[in-house]
Amino acid sequence: MCGIVGYIGHKCARPILIEGLKRLEYRGYDSAGLAVLNDGQVAVSRAVGRIANLEARLNGDGANATIGIAHTRWATHGGPSERNAHPHIAQNGRIALVHNGIIENYRTLRTFLEGMKVCCQSETDTEVLVQLIGHFYKGNIEQAVRDALHEVQGTYGIAVLCADEPDRIVVARKGSPLIVGIVGPGEYIVASDAAAIVQHTAQVVYLADGEMATIARDGFRTTTLENVPVTKEVQAVEFSLDQIELGGYEHFMLKEIFEQGQSLSMTLRGRLNTREGVIHLGGLANHTRDIARARRLIFTAQGTAWHAGLVGEYLFEDIAKIPAETEYASEFRYRNPLIEPGTVVIAISQSGETADTLAALREAKEKGALALGVINAVGSTIARESDAGVYLHCGPEIGVASTKAFTSQVAVLAMMAIQLGRRRFLSQPEAKNLIDALARIPGQVSAVLEQSEAIRKAVEKYIHRENWLFLGRGYNYPIALEGALKLKEISYIHAEGMPAAEMKHGPIALINEGMPVVFIATRCSQYEKVLSNIEEVRSRGGRIIAVATEGDEHIREMAQHVFYVPDVPEPLQPLLTVIPLQLLAYHAAVLRNCNVDKPRNLAKSVTVE
Ligand code: M6R
Repeated sequence: MCGIVGYIGHKCARPILIEGLKRLEYRGYDSAGLAVLNDGQVAVSRAVGRIANLEARLNGDGANATIGIAHTRWATHGGPSERNAHPHIAQNGRIALVHNGIIENYRTLRTFLEGMKVCCQSETDTEVLVQLIGHFYKGNIEQAVRDALHEVQGTYGIAVLCADEPDRIVVARKGSPLIVGIVGPGEYIVASDAAAIVQHTAQVVYLADGEMATIARDGFRTTTLENVPVTKEVQAVEFSLDQIELGGYEHFMLKEIFEQGQSLSMTLRGRLNTREGVIHLGGLANHTRDIARARRLIFTAQGTAWHAGLVGEYLFEDIAKIPAETEYASEFRYRNPLIEPGTVVIAISQSGETADTLAALREAKEKGALALGVINAVGSTIARESDAGVYLHCGPEIGVASTKAFTSQVAVLAMMAIQLGRRRFLSQPEAKNLIDALARIPGQVSAVLEQSEAIRKAVEKYIHRENWLFLGRGYNYPIALEGALKLKEISYIHAEGMPAAEMKHGPIALINEGMPVVFIATRCSQYEKVLSNIEEVRSRGGRIIAVATEGDEHIREMAQHVFYVPDVPEPLQPLLTVIPLQLLAYHAAVLRNCNVDKPRNLAKSVTVE
């Protein structure tokens, strides 16, 4: 989604802002802009398209400015155009604002402003906010921002500059993240994502919803919207610069696929006691008893995280014997769900900022559920609003297509299921067996990754086919869904994933000569049934690409291409079977010249409905 960067200090602001915007590129955007304060004036530049276009626009005006704000925009209200790009400027030309989020009552505010003879120049919801700040401004920008925000309905993360108060940036948030990085005395960088901050400092303050901060050269102060001072804890950013750089890989997606041995190790580290067969999840310590007694568990998430939730559903019913279900957060939040006593809701999200998942978590809490988070981004909104939770600790994920976060989500859910299982019916030897197998998984990832080139060669044969099917059963049904989503989102090939048995109820009509059909056909309780499904596709001319268990020679006779994963207990198979499908999607996208890390129409974190 949109990105915000702001800088105040003694260095030239523009290069820092541009660099910050580049760090946020991965989130997706269609235009960009920046404003600096220069010789008592606001100097604004905006451009449609890449940040390079914005750089090309910059002239000598403002080159030495030491304070500025910048933005990457993902169009919601008003198409992508220079006029609609941020920063937006108040009618008097003295105040500039960048905004993430949506001002829902912008039409009412626009009518009010027109009545006051204030005209908006753009089609955006954002511009009314800066015009409103201009309307309220009486010599104190912090107060004007506060007054304007009291009139606003919707969500925002904002940064505001005022030419008449050239030593401060005012920032505020409600529903859209903002982080203040403390670089040194009188030097701060503010951003909507730590990726824009980490090269300057690891010391940050996370603003909470309903908070504002005035960042000045002589320090910063944080208050509520009602101007009550708030003392904030300075925290350390968890990741380093090299984790958000390509490090020799051609794309972040490939880097993150190849990182999975390491990222899974980080997720499991300190949490598995293989000697005693015990799992330790510190974030749940105060709630394990309540969760183990839960009458119902609901996983809620979107996209890839929803697929992880579906694996979780299988894990929790199978291992922990707790009734579980998985719901799209976007549906859960609006359908007035019944939450009975003893319900635990688990929100799963890499970013911790997905608007629907956050709203579902709030709905669950309001209705009395224990609300847990399985989140990657430390300090994110969902992480902060959950009653308790488990961090993935898999490092920042930059590629829009979620890969390493998925395997870490599944690993966390597996640990939770084993831990709760032990409090219910899972025996110590059974738990130990699963924990030992889980501990071996990071080391087994490389055997799957070694097949990357073979996967590329196989994909090449079908690269012009526009329809693919992904089929799996049991624990590998969610993996079929995930394989199809990966292929769709980065290579723009139409793909469908479904339980293999469902194929006979309609989709089998699609199968024609040469159609690629991917089967996840590992040794599992339904192996023989999957083989029958393969026969059904073969006899209709479909081409079989199978993910199978190492040593399974029989499947070679049935499939055109076989990719192997090590033999692991059935509940843990998704951790490995998804990897060949991630590689398949990656190679398909590269072969079709698609922009792997920034697929069209997609953003890394969907912070609007
Ligand atoms: O940050 P989140 O995990 O909450 O994001 C959820 C989805 O938007 C995300 O998984 C999306 O489906 C990815 N593009 C999938 O690769």
